[in-house]
Amino acid sequence: MSDQKTDVQSEHQQFIQPLGGWARTHTCAALRKENIGEDVCLMGWVQFRRDHGGLIFVDLRDREGLTQVVFSPDHAPRAHETAGILRTEYVLAVKGRVRARPQGMANPNMRTGDIEVVVGEWKLLNTSKTTPFAIEDRVEAGENLRLQYRYLDLRRPRMAANMILRHKTTQTMRRYLDEQGFLEVETPFLTKSTPEGARDFLVPSRLNPGEFYALPQSPQLFKQLLMVAGMERYFQVARCFRDEDLRADRQPEFTQVDMEMSFVDEDQVMTVAEGLIARVFKDVLGLELQTPFARMPYDQAMLEYGVDKPDTRFDLRLKDVTHIVRGSQFKLFATAPLVKALKVPGGGVLSRKEIDDFTDFVKVYGAQGLAWIKIREGEWQSPIAKFLSEKERAGLASELDLNVGDIVFFEAGAPGMVNAALGNLRLKIADFMHLVPENTYNFLWVTDFPLFEYSEEEKRYVACHHPFTAAKDGHWDLLTTEPAAARARAYDMVLNGNEIGGGSIRIHTMELQRKMFEALGFSEEEAREKFGFLLQALEFGAPPHGGIAFGLDRLVMLLSGSASIRDVIAFPKTQKATCLMTEAPGEVSAKQLRELGLRLREKAGADF
Ligand code: AMO
Repeated sequence: MSDQKTDVQSEHQQFIQPLGGWARTHTCAALRKENIGEDVCLMGWVQFRRDHGGLIFVDLRDREGLTQVVFSPDHAPRAHETAGILRTEYVLAVKGRVRARPQGMANPNMRTGDIEVVVGEWKLLNTSKTTPFAIEDRVEAGENLRLQYRYLDLRRPRMAANMILRHKTTQTMRRYLDEQGFLEVETPFLTKSTPEGARDFLVPSRLNPGEFYALPQSPQLFKQLLMVAGMERYFQVARCFRDEDLRADRQPEFTQVDMEMSFVDEDQVMTVAEGLIARVFKDVLGLELQTPFARMPYDQAMLEYGVDKPDTRFDLRLKDVTHIVRGSQFKLFATAPLVKALKVPGGGVLSRKEIDDFTDFVKVYGAQGLAWIKIREGEWQSPIAKFLSEKERAGLASELDLNVGDIVFFEAGAPGMVNAALGNLRLKIADFMHLVPENTYNFLWVTDFPLFEYSEEEKRYVACHHPFTAAKDGHWDLLTTEPAAARARAYDMVLNGNEIGGGSIRIHTMELQRKMFEALGFSEEEAREKFGFLLQALEFGAPPHGGIAFGLDRLVMLLSGSASIRDVIAFPKTQKATCLMTEAPGEVSAKQLRELGLRLREKAGADF
């Protein structure tokens, strides 16, 4: 920024006046033809100033929108004369009269485009330095600069609209849940570690040196205890903290709309949750959703889509073809534990370069390569076609219903890799070939999740959802005999391939909760030390209960059509979990560390 500009701004500071009793009568988005002739008072920021034919025009902006205000030498000479100092982002208050814009000057792209306010009096409320990026939607600035000056970024209309949309969403949810008899209850931030599968953020305790609180990964245990407490229906707009690797749809602190209900089974929780989402879509977007939402068992999702949150807006599906290529000459197919195919109708037009790019893409998921066959008139064009027998060709053609012009991709190997590679390739290709319909909201419940998944890292079974989720009726014995086969009373709500909520029916007796901890490899002492308070509570007449939590940030991201949850969070963190505006996290003083009974290891030390 040039010194000259800074000087102008500081020189203008002498003109700043107090509000002195002035009060806004309207927002900058409110005035219409019907208001013509009214005297109004508006306040906001200078979006844009232009001088034209002796008049000074200013687009005045507030959170809601823009209004054109005019400083005219004929109407109010003094106001016009002093308006020469106005610059972009100066803050002002104007009093004036609403009038129609002159013939042919109406702006149909602006809600207030039929009118303008001709200024009688005005006050400069503050000056502004030149902003590091323009306050408009077409921002060229990089995200880091936007995050550093987040308060300026939030002034941009799109960001302000996102904040308004988020507010409307939470207010609608609060209203709906209140109507349904839910109580809003707050639960602690300084608490004990809860196992939602991520790393905890820890807070050292000054009063109890050497001891730590954990910030909650979710209010899971507290909401269950509220059911034991007889609250029957609880909700909370709850901040959750998880120290995990970040992606476009993940933040280290994020917000859940968290609910729990007593005396219910899956269907009742799902019905309330559908009603909640349907109300949000109606009140916020004006869209009527069809309920109940479709349901899909987890096994089908993995088989046909390769992921547990299928995007069902377009009809590409994976097929298991292991049995067809079992004895193949193509060694990889013959020996792999799983071989799956993804047929893309019309994909025969893909070029070698495009196929190579897709091959690189699947390598990210651990694939060695990507086999493919293009179905041509009278021939299969493919590097692997020569290895396939007539029988295998016939088997594939009938299983996959192949037609001229199709391409089929194959992945062979460990099930986790095959599903991740083809499941993500499916999304990539749909995007590339424009197969995803616009403005479609596709809701889906995924049900019948496994109770456990095997953790290679910990060399034991861990809970797929969390350790408080009940097994399906008749599956309790599997906990000890065949844990991998046990299914959970858990459900996720998926919107356009995004997991927007997840929940389950909980274990509500002490015996079964103990059995679960045992199956997860906790000794009795460990279980008592970590969850003694829960086990104890379950002994005092805990009602059957279950619930769900929605990821509010993800939901608002999808409602607003944003590409990242950072765009719907006022002050988000970067991919490295830092705040560029406040520069958190930061170092603390030696005194603070001493008070907490902490000493830092040498940063340079190998084991720091
Ligand atoms: P779960 O861990 O599935 O369930 O979380 C519920 C929802 O929260 C959202 N979410 C996130 N959003 C942004 N950033 C993150 N790091 C993040 N992690 C999760 C997702 C997810 O569906 N206590 C259980 C709920 C229950 O059983 O009732 C829980 O926390 O949209």
